[in-house]
Amino acid sequence: MSLSNQSINQLTNQWQISPKVLFSMGKIVPVLVIKDIADALPIAEAILQSGLKVLEVTLRTPSALAVIKEIATHLPQAIIGAGTVTNADMLQRSREAGAQFAISPGLTKDLLQAGQAGDIALIPGISSISELMDGIDYGYDHLKFFPAEASGGVKAIKSIGGPFPDIKFCPTGGININNINDYLALPNVACCGGSWLVTDEIVKNKDWSAITKLCNEAIAQTK
Ligand code: 3PG
Repeated sequence: MSLSNQSINQLTNQWQISPKVLFSMGKIVPVLVIKDIADALPIAEAILQSGLKVLEVTLRTPSALAVIKEIATHLPQAIIGAGTVTNADMLQRSREAGAQFAISPGLTKDLLQAGQAGDIALIPGISSISELMDGIDYGYDHLKFFPAEASGGVKAIKSIGGPFPDIKFCPTGGININNINDYLALPNVACCGGSWLVTDEIVKNKDWSAITKLCNEAIAQTK
C-alpha cells in the first residue's frame, strides 16, 4: 500500500490536471467519435452550452488528433481529453495536439510507464482485478472501467469496492440515460462516460441542438 500511495502522490504532482480534479468536474463525460473536422467545434460548443465541460475525443478516426487540436485551440473553456489511447506514442501525440488528459480502454505496462513520465493525466482502463492491481502498482487510483455493462456493470464495480475502496472509476461502455444513476450511486464511481449524447444520426443531420438537449436531459437526470 505505501508504495502505491507514494507513486500516486508523485503522479498527481506532475500532471496539469489531477485525475481527482478531472473526475470531480462533472458526472457525465461525452465520448466522441468525430470523423469530419468541420463538426468538431459545433459538437463541442453544443456540449459546452449545456454546462458539461469535460470531453473525450476518441482516437478512432483519422482526424481525431486534428479535432482535439481544433477544440483545444478555439474552446479553451473545454477540458479536452483523448480517448482510445492504447500506447505511448498515441499518448504523446494526444498531448502534442492539446489534450489535457488521456483515457485508455485498457492498460499495458508500457502505457502505464509512459503515463507516469508524461505531464497529462492518464486514466487507464480495466475490467479485471489483476489489471487493477497492475494499475495500482504503477500508482494509478483513478481508472476507467470498460466495457462496463459487458464486464459485470454495477455489480462488478460494487464488488471491487470491497477490497479496493480507495479506487475511483469512470465506467463506460453501455451506459446511457436509463442506467447512469445506478452507476453514480456507487461510492467508487465518480463519473460515467458514454457516446449516447452524440449519436451518428445527430452528426449526420448536423442537428447540434439535439446534443445540447441530450446533455441537458442527462444533467437533469443525474442531479
Ligand atoms: C468508450 O470508448 O468509452 C466507449 O466506446 C463508450 O461506450 P458506449 O459507446 O457504449 O457509450
